[in-house]
Amino acid sequence: MAEQTGNLTFGIIKPDAVRGGKTGNIIQRILDGGFKLQGMKLIHMTLREAEGFYAVHSERPFFGELTEFMSGAPCVVMALEKDGAVKAWRDLMGATDPAKADEGTLRKDFGGSMGENAVHGSDSEENAAIEIAYFFSQLELV
Ligand code: RTP
Ligand code: MG
Repeated sequence: MAEQTGNLTFGIIKPDAVRGGKTGNIIQRILDGGFKLQGMKLIHMTLREAEGFYAVHSERPFFGELTEFMSGAPCVVMALEKDGAVKAWRDLMGATDPAKADEGTLRKDFGGSMGENAVHGSDSEENAAIEIAYFFSQLELV
């Protein structure tokens, strides 16, 4: 059973990285970074599911492109546990734009562009809980 929410975040290995054969490398970097996996599965979102997940961005100009990309091919969804998980995972991911991401981050190493940037991470503990519940049932979280 999942522990306190503060130690959990939600991540996605996005379709560009899965398609590019980077899944194994990224999972290894996550484990090397001291995260424990509480849940993980390969899914292929429908457009509706991607629109629901990114509803907060529904008014942004890139919403159509983003949801088509996220529903266009399989991705890996993860519940990640670590102290201070939300910040730790965003630090490992790096900046949204891979061209601006720091050395040693996942987006620097695996991201191709602003839109296809390899990974997603929750931006707050509150959203982490919402996003984990969007994709996982309790039975799927160890
Ligand atoms: P994410 O939610 O995927 O972890 O990324 P983030 O917090 O770093 O960035 P956010 O502002 O939440 O944007 C969500 C995703 O939308 C795509 N995006 N495209 N073309 C653009 O200007 C643009 N801006 C954002 C990115 O894939 C970003 O990760
Ligand atoms: Mg975000």
